[in-house]
Amino acid sequence: MAESRGQWSGRIGFILAATGSAIGLGNLWKFPYITHENNGGAFVLVYIGMVLLVGVPIMIAEILVGRRTQLSPVGAFRSLGKDKPGGGAWTGVGFLGVLAGFTILSYYSVVAGWTIHYTYLSLTGELATLATDPHALQTYFGRDFLANGKLQVMYHLMFMGFTTGAVYFGVQKGIERVAKILLPLLFLILLVLLAYSSTTSGFNEALHFLFVPDFSTLTTGSVLEALGHAFFTLSLGMGAMLTYGSYINKDISIPRAAFQISLLDTVIALIACVIMFSIINSSDIEVSKSSTILFTTIPTVFAQLPAAGFFNAIFYLLIGFAALTSTISLLEVVSSYAIDDLGWTRRRASVTMGSVIAVFGVLNALSLGGNATLTSINLVGRESTAGVFGTMDYLASNWFLPVGGFLIALFVGWILGVRDTVDELQKGHGEMPWFKLWHVLIKFVAPLAVGAIIVSVILGREYQ
Ligand code: PFF
Repeated sequence: MAESRGQWSGRIGFILAATGSAIGLGNLWKFPYITHENNGGAFVLVYIGMVLLVGVPIMIAEILVGRRTQLSPVGAFRSLGKDKPGGGAWTGVGFLGVLAGFTILSYYSVVAGWTIHYTYLSLTGELATLATDPHALQTYFGRDFLANGKLQVMYHLMFMGFTTGAVYFGVQKGIERVAKILLPLLFLILLVLLAYSSTTSGFNEALHFLFVPDFSTLTTGSVLEALGHAFFTLSLGMGAMLTYGSYINKDISIPRAAFQISLLDTVIALIACVIMFSIINSSDIEVSKSSTILFTTIPTVFAQLPAAGFFNAIFYLLIGFAALTSTISLLEVVSSYAIDDLGWTRRRASVTMGSVIAVFGVLNALSLGGNATLTSINLVGRESTAGVFGTMDYLASNWFLPVGGFLIALFVGWILGVRDTVDELQKGHGEMPWFKLWHVLIKFVAPLAVGAIIVSVILGREYQ
């Protein structure tokens, strides 16, 4: 068992892998689209507030628990909770994390699969041709692609195959290598697109939409969504960061790492929004379905360049890799439970868990138009919660992760004990003048904020 666990090659390896987990479809696909649905400004501001007040403190808490126990979430909460108030019940936090990992991966890999199809369409030149007419591009995505059950299932299974392969080969080889080269490249291409978007006529309007808040458009539902997304985008609330933290040495500063990861993640999400909204504002198209933005805006920019196919392909390929470094961490949570707790080998754990999630995910793949029954289920009644796919996303992002994060904050703030916490945080960091601030955030601010939002949504039953 012990040799199955592995370690990062060092500080950079950990930072890259954890940043790789954080940066993914959450930043490039989901954030722009939910920002569009929630009317920009005020939503963005609430989201940034959540990242700072709730996200960063909880990320510190998760990595701390992981490094202290050197275990995956279930084992970590079991061993730390055992002689504390609540005892064995804390193990439930670990199980909730495994459930969240399972649920998220089952639909995340469907979206990740779209990047494979779009890379393929880029290489054949079809995408560039479609992109000369933005309307054709939208119609293609919504009507011809999403509703094609066969394609959806095929790409989803392909992506699950890649993810399982990476987890199968272990922590260092599988995860680090991918992150080390491709994340910087993705960042570079986004900066180039940002520079381009600043020359478009829609740029100022995009900045206005994103950064000038209008609180009259904010609902309780939007606040819950901003909170849920802060967890989703930072990979928090389900033990992914905890699991990655279990592979690090004592010479790494946890607070510094948490801050750097959160900053990079937020910057990328905001840059992605500026680019996509500039393009939308510069053209005359109405966005008919928000969730398609990533696939219907960028190709129109590349279509104006000589090597459109090539640039499109690189762009979607990089997003595919960013998604892969995230799906790896999702499967890692589920598999490391089987490795640590059930005594399975890494190979057996990754292949079994990967296969079960892949099979369950077929329901998500077919619920985008491919199968009428699966598509029409909608428990919440919003565009983004439609179908099995939307329901899974809603449950995991807006409920499992915030509730998991709430419990992690309670555990670290109230149960773990100040001495243990200070002791672990000082390793690799030294004196911490801001320790009190973090402790107030984790003990009071984070649980109260998350608790209040959850309660107000339950009481108000308001979603729209
Ligand atoms: N943070 C990833 C993203 O923004 O795409 C998604 C994710 C990965 C969520 C891992 C949760 C997680 F544990």
